[in-house]
This record gives sequence, C-alpha cells and structure tokens, in this order.
Amino acid sequence: MAKDHSLMEDSNRSSNPDIHRLSDPARRTWVHGGLSAIVAGLFAPLLPGCAATPGAGTPKIGFKSVPVTVGDTLTVPEAYVASVLAAWGDPVGIAGDMPAFRPDASNTAAEQAAQMGMHHDGIHFYPLGAGSDRGLLVMNHEYTDDGLLHRDGMLTWSAEKVRKSQAAHGVAVIEVARQGAGWQVVRPSRYARRITAYTPMRVAGPAAGHALMRTAADPAGTTVLGTLNNCASGKTPWGTYLAGEENFYGYFHGPAEPDAHARRWGLRPGGWGYRWHEHDERFDATRHPNEMNRFGWIVEIDPMDPGSHPVKRTALGRGTHEGATVAVTRDGRAVVYSGEDARFEYIYKFVSRDAIRPGGGAANRELLDHGTLYVARFDADGRGRWLPLSFGSGPLTPAKGFADQGEVLVKGRQASDALGATKMDRPEWLAVDSEQREVYCSLTNNSNRGTEGHAPVDAANPRAANTMGHIIRWKEDGDFDAVEFRWTHFVLAGDPANGRPESRGNVKGDAFGSPDGLFMDPRGVLWIQTDASPTAMGKGDYARLPQNMMLAADVATGEIRRFLVGPPGCEVTGAAMAPDLCTLFVNIQHPGETPSERSDPAAVSRYSSWPDGGRPRSATVVIRRRDGGVVGT
Ligand code: FEO
Ligand code: CA
Ligand code: CA
Repeated sequence: MAKDHSLMEDSNRSSNPDIHRLSDPARRTWVHGGLSAIVAGLFAPLLPGCAATPGAGTPKIGFKSVPVTVGDTLTVPEAYVASVLAAWGDPVGIAGDMPAFRPDASNTAAEQAAQMGMHHDGIHFYPLGAGSDRGLLVMNHEYTDDGLLHRDGMLTWSAEKVRKSQAAHGVAVIEVARQGAGWQVVRPSRYARRITAYTPMRVAGPAAGHALMRTAADPAGTTVLGTLNNCASGKTPWGTYLAGEENFYGYFHGPAEPDAHARRWGLRPGGWGYRWHEHDERFDATRHPNEMNRFGWIVEIDPMDPGSHPVKRTALGRGTHEGATVAVTRDGRAVVYSGEDARFEYIYKFVSRDAIRPGGGAANRELLDHGTLYVARFDADGRGRWLPLSFGSGPLTPAKGFADQGEVLVKGRQASDALGATKMDRPEWLAVDSEQREVYCSLTNNSNRGTEGHAPVDAANPRAANTMGHIIRWKEDGDFDAVEFRWTHFVLAGDPANGRPESRGNVKGDAFGSPDGLFMDPRGVLWIQTDASPTAMGKGDYARLPQNMMLAADVATGEIRRFLVGPPGCEVTGAAMAPDLCTLFVNIQHPGETPSERSDPAAVSRYSSWPDGGRPRSATVVIRRRDGGVVGT
C-alpha cells in the first residue's frame, strides 16, 4: 500500500536496538511489451500449451530486461504477452448474482459484494484437478480509494457508501481456466465467493474470548465481522489461504488522547479518513474501544469449501500484518513467518505444535491454534535469535502488564518491545526457499531511520533515512523451528547512478527501490515487486524510477533483472504461478494513485486510465511466454 506517509504509523518509541481494456471478456485485448507489440498483440496467435520444463544448464533468468517506461501501459519483455483477467468491479461469478461493472462507478453496495473488490494484493493459485489449466485464484483487496469507488467520490457521504467501501475490501475467490491462448474467469462457479469487511468470522487460538476481545455486540469475544486491509497473503501446504490484516487502525476513529495501548497501535481521531465510523459505530473506538483489538490478525480461509467460515488465528500474533508465509519442518510441522509493515516494527514466526495431517483444511482446522510465537532479534555479528512471545517468559508477566497469553498476543507490539526485538525498516513480504532452506524478507524503506528522535541505524538496518529499502535473508540453525539463525543482506536496493551515494545500494543488475512483494518460484527465482510511493517516484533518489515494477533475482548469483513495469501510480503486488510455471498471475494495484487525495474522483483518476480508458482499476494480469515456455527463462 502506498499512501500518504504522513499517515503511516511510527509509534514504536520503545528503547530496543534496533490497450489494455478489459473486464468485459467480449472486449478483451492484449497488453504487452513495446509499442509495436501493442498492435501485434491485437492479432496475437494462440499460445501453445506449456513447453517442457527447462533442461539442466538453462539460465534461471533468460528474458531480456525491460526499460523503465513512463507510459500509461504495462510493459513486459518482448517474448511475453500479458492480458487483464479480473479487474475491480468484474463479477466474481456467484450463480444468479453477476452484476456487470458500471464504468461510472454507480454499482450499489450489494452489487459490489458480488464483484471483484478494489486494490488487488496478495494472490495464490489453487489447482483444480491434476493439471495447470484450471484452478482457483484467491486474492486480497487491500483498501479503497473512495474517490474512485463512488460515482461522486466522497463529496457526499452515506451509510450506503460505507457499505460499498466495506464490500470492496476483503478477499475474492474466483475460478479460472485456460482456453487455448488465454485465461478466463469461469462464471458461474460453485467456488466463487467474496469475503468482505462485514463477513462473519470465527476467532480461534489463545486470544479467543479474551476480555480485550469482547464488545457489546459480541460479548463472547469469539465472532468478528469482517477482515480489512488485507495485504500480502500466504498459501498453506494443506490448501488454505492466509490473509494478513495490515493497517487496520486507519479505519478507526479514536479519541484526541488515546490510552497507551491504543496509542502504541496508531489510533487517532478520524483514522486515515475512511469515515466508516460516521455510519457504522463499531469503527468508532471512542464508543467501542475493543473492536480494534479484533483486527490485526492473520485470517485462514479454505477456498475449497465455499461454505466455510474464515478464522482469525490469534496464535500467530497481532500486528499490522502484511501476510504469512509457510515453511515446513522436516518432521512436518508448519512454520509461519510474518512481519509488521510499519516503521521500526518486527518480524515474527510461529511454529506449530503438531504436524500437518493429510486431508486438507478439514484435517488441519486446529493446526494454527497451538504452537509457539517468536519475534526476531538480529545481532550485529550476523547471528540472530527468535524470542518467544510466551506468557511467563522473561518480562511477559503480570508485573509487567501481561495477565495471560491472550494479552501477550493482543499486545504483541508491547510484548516485543519488552523482549528487546529488533526494530526493522518496515517488514513487508517474506519468501521461503525450501531447497536452500533460507528465508527472505523485504524491508521496503524507512525515511525516519537514524533521524532525530528515532532509532539509529543498526547492523540489520544499516542505512539512515533509508529511502530505497533492502532485502534481508537468514538461514535457521538446523531446521525452520530453530531458535537461532544466521543472517545477511541479500541486497541493499537502489539506483547505482544515484547522486546520493548512500542510496545507490549494491544492486547487481537493474535499479529498483522500495521492495515489497516477494515470491519464490519453484525454480528458485525470487520475484521482487516494488511499491515506491507516488510522492517519491520520479524525484530525488527515484529520479530514474518513475513507475513501480517487478524484477526477477537469481539468488545464487545475485543478478536482478527487470521483468515488468506497471502503469503510472500503481504498485505491483502479488504474484502466483500455475504448477507448470508457464502462467504467471500478477496484481496491479491502484494505477493512477495520487500522492494523497482520496476523496475527489477527478483528482484520483488524473494520472492513469489503465486498463480500459476510464477510471483506473486495479486488476489481475496473466503473463505467458509467446512460445508457451516457462515464465522467467
Ligand atoms: Fe500493504 Fe505494506 O503494503
Ligand atoms: Ca508497501
Ligand atoms: Ca505490501
């Protein structure tokens, strides 16, 4: 999410070290690399089926790097073709409820609840059957720009608009199928589903029913309406989907002087300007202070069971979670890595008590409720330690303000402060290299690092006023459940041609900044997606980087090559591949985003009309090689 960074939370004052038109299938055309290809693409031949797996000795990255472009288009390498599959407002395919997108944004809240949400983010592919030609795409819809969402933006405000905004949040499940050259959304589909900011979901794990989780509307503290600000996401080996709840505090209206707990979690009057509290009182934290405690969790969803309730898994901890990435120990237990994307916050891992059982989501419905949560400390000597967030351990006692494990989890930031965890430069996505048994985490940027009143640079976060970000990686001692690890920097992002030496980085290959989305494909290629903010792009350290992009990294050689450049103002976030590795799905979020204006439709759509010439729309894009080969080779 790239937003007005003056709103971004920075509450950790602890003393720790630190042509494209689409959506209507009848109008579908191709989006691809180069101007000549725009015309050629209109007559693109049918793509063949997937070519054979690349042989031994084939370079991991074989495509020709794309230049940094500035056009209102999406650019991929010459040998590739891209098409839009599902944009904001397209019907997801619920039988009997498939309202078409209205380009003037006049769809009702009820219609929006059956359509793709706004601002696509983390995405995963779940095959249906043995092949790679049919499956489910499950994806997050992180937030809304209400200036675009409603016909007249926020110039008027009503309960119906709040409901539509809530309906445009959450998660979408769509069925997709390959038909010759391209992919289509299957409509209707028995799997098609929308989960919104008001879908009932169960609370599970140690914080379920806790006094801090109880509200007037839910005195048991076990049922929450909705999930929101779902950013990155994870896929479990047992077939479920994990959605993080990131900047949840921005939806709540708080008092002028919040208490210490609320202040540590970013509560402020008016929040980030969503204005939900004006027509939905549970977002008014001056009246319902515990409602905010019920957000910031990781939500597990079983896409194969359309009737299942999503579950907030409190054992995985509370934070401004991007997402959750799963590794498996040699004895079959799940290890879930997550981070909090806020300046000076932390990196976490959860180790399940029990081993994963065969039988999918139904057989593992309590797996993520029992285990140990840790927070990371990165030491200056290249070693690191996982500190248990376990009640009774070290300072996590009643004398220090933690009554039980539920309170440790709800107040995860305070517990991590007390343990002396390392304050990081905005941890975004994590990726696991199962073969090398290494973990990567993008630290997108932190312009406050080392500035007055803030934590100084440290070994793991070595740049003051870190505008470009970095990617850290570590190897656990032994298995993924280890309590110690060895870390290094995979890359300090930057533009080697920058005038400011400290922001040049050590990039081998193409320049980039603000790494955010990470996806480790089964060949061991690390895909990096960027989210530089609209206020930064094209200026200063980003003078030669005017638009966000996606790159491929060979983690063995460190070479990084630019694969895609998005339209103006967009963030590239979320990637998934079909099992044959010949189809890549990528999400393009908030094309045309302005530096900060979210209420006026004219202002919000000034910079882009991607993908279909009208209001800019976030969208899932399908990318394939023209010869049907493995993507990235
Ligand atoms: Fe939603 Fe941290 O990006
Ligand atoms: Ca980001
Ligand atoms: Ca992100």
